[in-house]
Amino acid sequence: MRPVPAFDKLSVLLHPPRVHAYRFSVAPMMERTDRHFRALARAVSKRCLLYTEMVMGRAVLSGRAERDLAFDPAELPLVMQVGDNDPGRLAQCARIAQDRGFTELNLNCGCPSSAVRDGAFGARLMMEPGRVADAVAAMKGACSLPVTVKHRIGVDELDRYEDMLRFVDVVTEAGCDAFIVHARKAWLHGLSPKENRNVPPLRPQDVHRLKRERPSLRIELNGGIESSDAVVAALEHDDAVDGVMVGRAIYRDPLAFADVDARVYGDPEPAVTTEHVLETMLEHTRRWVEGGGRVHDVSRHIHGLFLGRPGGRKARRVLAEAGAGADLSTLRRAAGMLNADRTP
Ligand SMILES: Cc1cc2nc3c(=O)[nH]c(=O)nc-3n(C[C@H](O)[C@H](O)[C@H](O)COP(=O)(O)O)c2cc1C
Repeated sequence: MRPVPAFDKLSVLLHPPRVHAYRFSVAPMMERTDRHFRALARAVSKRCLLYTEMVMGRAVLSGRAERDLAFDPAELPLVMQVGDNDPGRLAQCARIAQDRGFTELNLNCGCPSSAVRDGAFGARLMMEPGRVADAVAAMKGACSLPVTVKHRIGVDELDRYEDMLRFVDVVTEAGCDAFIVHARKAWLHGLSPKENRNVPPLRPQDVHRLKRERPSLRIELNGGIESSDAVVAALEHDDAVDGVMVGRAIYRDPLAFADVDARVYGDPEPAVTTEHVLETMLEHTRRWVEGGGRVHDVSRHIHGLFLGRPGGRKARRVLAEAGAGADLSTLRRAAGMLNADRTP
């Protein structure tokens, strides 16, 4: 353990670090973390914190986001992530988030897409900590939910550790309850959103340093975490963060995180099984179809369950061939392919 600077010792005495309830979360991802993938993630981890895809503040207020805001209580704890920069609109969104039963409200300060940049929200907001502070204060004033911010370690030329620290300090003053830090900077020009998730190098050390220097804040690490080993390592680091958020890796291979509740929360079951997750998803699909939904809405998210598993390639082929025409029997057939390679 590195020595704690004197001002931090005082800070620790005044605000002893707490163990936060949500040590593992699944990142908000547009086109991915809809209610169907969230049902899958919940089957993998009973304890993780889930997020909606980013919903635009204007869409929430105009009623255009109904589909994105609907959820099943089984998905809780669930955070509504909003993209906007107007404190008044965000305050109204906060009331709606609370009325609908979300667990927390999160402001997106990390998205670098050109539409978001031109609308002056997402990662662009890191250039305006005062505006983010006003937004957080407005949201806090309008609801009693925790209000959190998801951001990058930097944006464009504003990418020194001290720039991020200033951002965090200013937003903390407004009462922000947690910072979820994607440990790479974003370039607002010249890189696509996808490149902005891969090209700028990861600097998780900046996030651990932030936790070391601001021990009373809830600081979560995001970016490039590929396994439950890596989740545990970040939570057991000398400068351990309070939580770890995983995005692409859990979407690609959900069962790589099957032991996360056991390892992160000490749950007695060693790991969830593929069968359990598949059964849950079959039941979820049955109810969704009964309510008028399409099997494909769900099946497009479950390919990852078959990754690298015996019979998995055949199962994926069954789903791919059925495509949008998949029905419940397609799903059962795909599930039945698992372990098929083992049968003589
Ligand atoms: C397809 C896709 C969509 C995303 N959409 C959002 C989003 O709506 N809101 C957000 O804050 N981040 C979004 N992200 C970024 C992720 O939340 C996360 O910060 C990023 O993928 C890094 O984490 P990872 O390396 O664990 O994937 C998205 C990422 C992907 C791959």
